[in-house]
Amino acid sequence: MSVSGHLSAESKLDWWRSAAIYQVYIRSFADGDGDGIGDLAGVRSKLGYLADLGIDAIWFSPWYPSPMDDGGYDVSDFRGIEPVFGTLADAEATIAEAHALGLRVIIDIVPNHCSDEHRWFQAALAAGPGSPERERFWFRPGRGPDGDEPPNNWPSRFGGSAWTRITEPDGTPGEWFLHLYSSRQPDFNWENAEIRAEFEDILRFWFDRGVDGFRIDVADGLVKDPALPDIALTGDESAYSDQDGLHDIYRSWRKIADSYPGNRILVAEMWLPDMSRAAQYLRKDELNSAFNFDFLVCPWDAARFRDVIEKTLEAHAAVGAPAAWVLSNHDVTRPVTRYGRPGDTGFAFADRLHGTPVDRALGTRRARAAALLAMSLPGGLYTYQGEELGLWEIEDIPSELRQDPVWERTKHVDPGRDGCRVPLPWSGSSSPFGFSPAGAETDPWLPQPAVWSEYTAEAEAANPGSVLELYRAGLKIRAEEPALGDGELAWRGDDDGVLSFTRDPGFACVVNFSVKPVSLPDHEEVLLASGSLVHGLLPPNTAVWLRLR
Ligand code: NOJ
Ligand code: MG
Repeated sequence: MSVSGHLSAESKLDWWRSAAIYQVYIRSFADGDGDGIGDLAGVRSKLGYLADLGIDAIWFSPWYPSPMDDGGYDVSDFRGIEPVFGTLADAEATIAEAHALGLRVIIDIVPNHCSDEHRWFQAALAAGPGSPERERFWFRPGRGPDGDEPPNNWPSRFGGSAWTRITEPDGTPGEWFLHLYSSRQPDFNWENAEIRAEFEDILRFWFDRGVDGFRIDVADGLVKDPALPDIALTGDESAYSDQDGLHDIYRSWRKIADSYPGNRILVAEMWLPDMSRAAQYLRKDELNSAFNFDFLVCPWDAARFRDVIEKTLEAHAAVGAPAAWVLSNHDVTRPVTRYGRPGDTGFAFADRLHGTPVDRALGTRRARAAALLAMSLPGGLYTYQGEELGLWEIEDIPSELRQDPVWERTKHVDPGRDGCRVPLPWSGSSSPFGFSPAGAETDPWLPQPAVWSEYTAEAEAANPGSVLELYRAGLKIRAEEPALGDGELAWRGDDDGVLSFTRDPGFACVVNFSVKPVSLPDHEEVLLASGSLVHGLLPPNTAVWLRLR
């Protein structure tokens, strides 16, 4: 196992600048108790698999008590564990066991909103207009003579209006509350000092329990323009995204993280249009890193990739922060499917190009090449569960089984994100493929396709040409090569359709996006390739790592 020692090396202050971090979406990862839903017992049974994969840390999507309207991003208690997943003691054991294997643990924090079942929201509903309880959220009277129009025109990011009207305790139609996501996810009012104090306390609660960092959900959205102005519906989200007031919040969070030993970190989820503004959150007294989504959405095109990589490295260098490369997560169409769509289409929300044909063999070749590219770029790396098995988007989930609120809120325009959340196949030849224990009576919470028998971790581990073996080999080299992880790259040449760069000492990566085989630079050894070389040439849709002379 290549990762042991990472934790004991307290001196490795900057572990996160190079870290390979694996995202566990608990309810789809592994089910220990046989109820068809992943849980912490399942996670604990697979920690050895994660350590063998060669990652440095695990990021857990929210594990808090939640009615699961939005897969746990609707939190009803920030200091507990969802009973379907386990107990607080299970979470502490998970952290301890991961640490013992040399794996760090990052957890999700969801500061923009909570569940409508959170005690503070329930108290706000009961307390009535003008009460301090309502001041923790954004309650406003409606517009129009009867107050039956929303207070402003902000759209929910899940479709429809960002406002929902409540019924007051006396039974009359009442105020409206703001929710940038589903109507079961009320937004907190970060102008309120109580909210700030509460989240600082929540950070400490989990740091005290040994977590190594937080992934901050909707990190760009906490602060709103308090005037709540109407916006131009042209995609300009500046009234509720990337507001200057956010920086103070993250400075205070960083002080808390830095007050703990062992280099605890804060990672932002933000989809911002302006990379240089995004980088401002990564100044040395703010957040440690932020996902790079421009890379994720980039179409399969050498020049476009080069542009994204250059701009990313430049923006990050300006603030001394490492980039964090991401190919997938629980919100986006899986890479095999994205790259297998016709043409060189990138990823788009809205309808996700759902239903357009997919060439899965092509998508897999490209996803393999993209993985080697992402693993060899300067900075950190995030891998979403199932990416290492080469899983694709499941697009034929029957309508009545879909659970993502996006599906209903967009009136069935956007199928939502269930297709990348289908429970993982671990072993065996039929569903539940080892996701649930043998003999479990309840099916996995989303149906698994029969052909996944060839894509279980067990089947792939025995197959040298599998995506799993490529990830294992790639992550191992990545951990051992001094040239990889944090640092710099130098571009080689400007060939049409080819991305080629070197990293010191003695490493090169070449990715062929063109339609014809290309020759390789002079090298001593092929370290790894995402597909076989043909007469020494690099075929289309293939990446190779070289040891240079
Ligand atoms: C981003 C999360 O990744 C997504 O799953 C969630 O629905 C939204 N934030 C709202 O919390
Ligand atoms: Mg379970």
